[in-house]
Amino acid sequence: MTVLFVILAYLAATVFIVGLVAKVWKYATTPAPLKIPQTPAPVTETGVPGRMLSEVAVFKSLFKSNRVLWLAAYLFHIGLLLAVIKHFRFFFAGIAAVPGLSVFTTYEMYAGPIMAIGLLFLLMLRFVVDRHAYISVMSDYFLLLLLVGIAVTGVIAKHFLRVDLVQVKTFVMGIVSFSPQAFPAEPIFIIHFSLVLLLLVYFPFSKLMHAAGLFFSPTRNQVDNPREKRLVTPWAAETPAQVEVVEEAPETI
Ligand code: HEM
Repeated sequence: MTVLFVILAYLAATVFIVGLVAKVWKYATTPAPLKIPQTPAPVTETGVPGRMLSEVAVFKSLFKSNRVLWLAAYLFHIGLLLAVIKHFRFFFAGIAAVPGLSVFTTYEMYAGPIMAIGLLFLLMLRFVVDRHAYISVMSDYFLLLLLVGIAVTGVIAKHFLRVDLVQVKTFVMGIVSFSPQAFPAEPIFIIHFSLVLLLLVYFPFSKLMHAAGLFFSPTRNQVDNPREKRLVTPWAAETPAQVEVVEEAPETI
């Protein structure tokens, strides 16, 4: 069991890291030849991080367009964030000493339930709202069910079939330090961990990549200054006619 899960863990981690880096590289090198910031957009370079922060922290655009979907999505993402922070303790020896983390431990027990409720809410919307059902495809349901499976098995492992966390931590730290230790072969952990490995492998090929893609989205990361500053794409700037235009163009109109 240990050999099997150690091999699977390294394979999944490799697919995840290589896939993620390859996708981010592709996003970063994809040209954005047009000025298409979604207005109202920041009119200065320094305003862009603020806009991105409002999207990342409170999903501002979604909030303005669909409050019900926003609530479901926000619940899920907050639960996920808390769950991920909680899991840090499996990866680092001295995590309990991190300042501020003790405050978090008071509320940590809500992570799993919040994540599961948000996911079930999202799943329900796809079943009961016609517009959602109409655009839903198999991978949407698969992803939601996979995440529900991870959250529910996590909650069971925490509250009902208590797994041996010392063994879990030893195993996870063994993986990250490249000195594999015994796998905690408790059924609920086997299911939780297997689903997590599946998620890692699937992540770079799925719509979950929106987590990184958001930062490369021209509608969100561009400055709204098409009149003040002419946008010339690198390949266009190289053409002789364009060089003239660029050189003669006034800085502002
Ligand atoms: C190395 C990978 C992982 C390991 C070894 C692991 C292990 C565990 C263990 C042992 C528990 C129950 C014990 C506890 O927290 O007190 C747990 C709970 C949980 N896990 Fe994981 N997990 C992993 C990755 C993930 C991922 C990627 C997610 C989310 C996508 C996740 C979501 C959850 C949730 C929601 C809970 C319930 C937490 C709660 O209700 O407080 N896990 N996990």
